[in-house]
Amino acid sequence: MAHLDDLIATDIHAYLRAQEKKSFLRFITCGSVDDGKSTLIGRLLYDSKLIYEDQLASIEKDSKKSGTQGDKIDLALLVDGLAAEREQGITIDVAYRFFSTDKRKFIVADTPGHVQYTRNMATGASTADVAILLIDARYGVQEQTRRHAFIASLLGIKHVVVAVNKMDLLGFDQATFNDIEVDFREFAASLNFEDIRCIPMSALDGDNVIRKSDRSGWYQGPSLLEYLETVDVDSATLDAPFRLPVQWVNRPNLDFRGFSGTIASGTIETGDEVIVIPSGKRSKVKEIVTFDGHREIAREDMAVTLTLTDEIDISRGDIICKTDAPAEQADQFQAHLIWMSEQRLFPGRQYLLKTANKTVPVTVNRLKHRIDINDFSEVAAKTLDLNEIGVATLSLGAPIAFDPYGDNRQTGAFILIDRQTNATVGAGMLDYALRRAKNVVWQDLDVSKTARAAQKNQRPVLLWFTGLSGSGKSTIANLVDKRLLDLGRHTYTLDGDNVRHGLNQDLNFSKADRVENIRRIGEVAKLMVDAGLITMASFISPYRAERDMARRLLEEGEFVEIFVNTPLEVAEARDVKGLYARARAGEIKNFTGIDSEYQAPKNPEITVNTVEMSAEDAAEMIVAHLTENGYLEGQDG
Ligand code: ADX
Repeated sequence: MAHLDDLIATDIHAYLRAQEKKSFLRFITCGSVDDGKSTLIGRLLYDSKLIYEDQLASIEKDSKKSGTQGDKIDLALLVDGLAAEREQGITIDVAYRFFSTDKRKFIVADTPGHVQYTRNMATGASTADVAILLIDARYGVQEQTRRHAFIASLLGIKHVVVAVNKMDLLGFDQATFNDIEVDFREFAASLNFEDIRCIPMSALDGDNVIRKSDRSGWYQGPSLLEYLETVDVDSATLDAPFRLPVQWVNRPNLDFRGFSGTIASGTIETGDEVIVIPSGKRSKVKEIVTFDGHREIAREDMAVTLTLTDEIDISRGDIICKTDAPAEQADQFQAHLIWMSEQRLFPGRQYLLKTANKTVPVTVNRLKHRIDINDFSEVAAKTLDLNEIGVATLSLGAPIAFDPYGDNRQTGAFILIDRQTNATVGAGMLDYALRRAKNVVWQDLDVSKTARAAQKNQRPVLLWFTGLSGSGKSTIANLVDKRLLDLGRHTYTLDGDNVRHGLNQDLNFSKADRVENIRRIGEVAKLMVDAGLITMASFISPYRAERDMARRLLEEGEFVEIFVNTPLEVAEARDVKGLYARARAGEIKNFTGIDSEYQAPKNPEITVNTVEMSAEDAAEMIVAHLTENGYLEGQDG
């Protein structure tokens, strides 16, 4: 709380806003289709006079038309926004409503109850403080109730209201209510709820929604709204470690480079030391810029742009942390999964994993077990079907910065996306990072190129760097190599100067020898690609024919020609090794560019203009090309 007190002195507006935020409550409603969720929210809005007159008129008109509630107003129409769901009588997407009372502001995510729409429930619940579970008093606790309660608990919701609805149909029978309460509490005992509140209700008639009802004199607790207005959910995440998932790098001109995103947790102050995960680079906060201008301190939920005192490389997908408590990074995890697709989960198939700010390829290596939501037992399973929940190990195509979900609901959550259809097929929570698993998945495969590459979680490729002596080929290849190594990739670099000391020490720079030089390199590189490696070959390779020959040794897509385009004058002016001077002096014969020809590539996959681009940027561009073209992803089984 020290942070908040500091705010009074430094920024009274921020303090006031913080106070405002404290009284913000996010909740979700969930239950089965006919439990009356939408009616309940409609009742909350209607009775607390939060509906505009014109909206009301149109609802009254529609109520008469659809006639689901006789002459009464069908309050569900207020929240069931989509025409399709009105016709089907079910809610099919998360609808967010904002309303406020004197005591608090509310955001409610009305999540669907239909069995297929667990997905939206998970979406709405991931930021909620309170879950309202509706139960039809006539039927008691149902499978859906259990499933939704379990998901709510999995998603870290601590407060649950069990709204035992339609009590009017049972004459507000206390015994029925008590039975349901006992039933629910017994089942929920092993879930991580801090507090469970059961309220007898009629959403349709308004009993115990806003005010206490005199039809349930035996009930001693608060009405729903009273509960929502007073429940203590201030979990003080201001004290949580600072996390800024970088959404984009803001560079309007050369003098300004800012890193933008919404603060996921904690606070940040100018002068604070920060560390960037995964790169591990450090700097200090120079400025905090927001929509309303500069500020000294910013906190959770604020959209900010940070500038730093040092020019360090930060990209979208990184997380900026304070140095005292940095996020972790890993590419292998255990995670909980909620499956949301009609297409069942296939371990071994590749999906995309999307976190708050980053998308990477992922393979579900192994499903450890499925969770039976009736008794929470762990059941052996090979797949997950729609709405099923399980625990699996995941292998990512690249490391991500993260926190375990238990520590941070934003930096620990993800969704899974089908690569073909782009549909969201699952939601998940990162439990913890695993060590790199060895030989778990691929041991039964033949030791083919595909198997070797899959084991390395990459597609083998030969990156062929060509250009004049001193053009920067080796420097760039070396940077790409390092970058790929950092990303956990398996690589090797063949370099002209090095190879000529061993394998090719019998060759010099005559045309025939250069041809033979490149032929041998092509063959060696092919073996390396066969071993599943991302291979870099850095040779002048002045002749098109030999480069094309090397290309033909490999399969489609395995040869990437990179033209390191440095004009002769520039390479000669640099003359790193002093060879150009010696060639000009006639001491070296057949020197490429001086008295020996260089044939520039006609259609290289990548051209690097080293005059305009730094070696670092060139390496970054090449790695991006590899990422975009799927080289850094494992292959399907
Ligand atoms: S290639 O022409 O056969 O592809 P390669 O890349 O293996 O050449 O070797 C080039 C390196 O050898 C140059 O970077 C330079 O350091 C050295 N070198 C020595 N003599 C020559 C020469 N006559 N022409 C080009 N490079 C030479």
